[in-house]
Amino acid sequence: MARIEQAAYPVGLRLAGRRVVVLGGGQVAQRRLPALIAAGADVLLVSPSATASVEAMVDAGELRWERRRYRDGDLDGAWYALISTDDPAANEAASAEAEARRVWAVRSDDAGAATAWTPATGRSEGVTVAVLTGQDPRRSAAVRDAIVEGLRDGSLAAPHYRARAASDGRVALVGGGPGDPDLITVRGRRLLAEADVVIADRLGPRDLLAELPPHVEVIDAAKIPYGRAMAQEAINAALVEHAKAGKAVVRLKGGDPFVFGRGMEEVQALAEHGIPCTVVPGISSSISVPGVAGIPVTHRAVAHEFTVASGHVAPDDPRSLADWSALARLRGTLVLLMAVENIGAIAETLVRHGRPAGTPVAVVQEGTTAAQRRLDATLETVAERVRAEGIRPPAVIVIGDVVTVGPRDGD
Ligand SMILES: C[S@@+](CC[C@H](N)C(=O)[O-])C[C@H]1O[C@@H](n2cnc3c(N)ncnc32)[C@H](O)[C@@H]1O
Repeated sequence: MARIEQAAYPVGLRLAGRRVVVLGGGQVAQRRLPALIAAGADVLLVSPSATASVEAMVDAGELRWERRRYRDGDLDGAWYALISTDDPAANEAASAEAEARRVWAVRSDDAGAATAWTPATGRSEGVTVAVLTGQDPRRSAAVRDAIVEGLRDGSLAAPHYRARAASDGRVALVGGGPGDPDLITVRGRRLLAEADVVIADRLGPRDLLAELPPHVEVIDAAKIPYGRAMAQEAINAALVEHAKAGKAVVRLKGGDPFVFGRGMEEVQALAEHGIPCTVVPGISSSISVPGVAGIPVTHRAVAHEFTVASGHVAPDDPRSLADWSALARLRGTLVLLMAVENIGAIAETLVRHGRPAGTPVAVVQEGTTAAQRRLDATLETVAERVRAEGIRPPAVIVIGDVVTVGPRDGD
């Protein structure tokens, strides 16, 4: 029998279509079965009873269940066994059978008597992490968690060398969230950590750029020289150029790339050159900035819809694609982006088309950052208040009764 202090030989078992026998249908089986099923094993459970979750796996046809106690011969044809009954004598007998049949067997009640140990496992983006510490499963789990988390958030650098060699350059269009560096997605953070070139907008999590290693080229999208082309064309050209040079490029945008972010124009420009682009959604300021300022965009019995509109052109501007008279007739929440400049004309238009002048309005500047500030007004007073308080972009403007439902400072 192997002594516990001897090092185990780590290996990845390919169990697809191979018989695995699980003895006992309790918590241990419940924890281990999903991975065995995911590996495609032909699982036979032998146990007089099983937990509700194990029964659900049986009902889903993911394994076979014989409702009885262990008996000699159950390991016939098995490649691997999990011995976890509540009967020590049965566990002993099953271990002896496994030894005799040369079937690798895990023992939940006696690691020293087992011929195999289950590592703490985790997966992130195609990497399987398996950790064994011998006698300390909690330590194994802690090491596993640290590695998986590091892979997920990119703090553990693990570039895809093989994938990179096979393709020349790749681009990820990453929504960086509203500004707080903690509000980027896990995938966005990881891609940022793997980037050679980052082309970043003014808005979004700029603090993350300072954390990038020195070899990463960080390009401010606003400063790309564009000569006779439009700024967006110059950004598209820069993306194509760096991707064609074989770089891992991240186009880091504020909020979500497809909410007033011109993200699809960049995807299209890359597609014209045959360059694929991974899109990573982001937390849009249109929902998150009101949220952190204590304003829900919907609320039961208050607002059953919310509409997000751009206010970058005034309502009477022929370029405006928004139907402001229709927006004025809606009863729910109206969220405006890029509207600080035109809020006077917008508020006046909404009131003229029927939205009550006393409708609550909140303006949240630089939401989720240390400089966040909120101003409260009504449609009638908002333009004057914004001017008097010196509100500047970026700001999200929320119009509707949801503005007053949350607790305010001092409430
Ligand atoms: C060009 S749009 C991009 C929106 C972005 N794609 C998103 O989903 O949040 C820029 C506008 O978003 C809003 N915005 C973005 N980040 C903000 C923040 N942290 N605080 C307030 N408003 C913000 C402002 O209205 C700003 O003018």
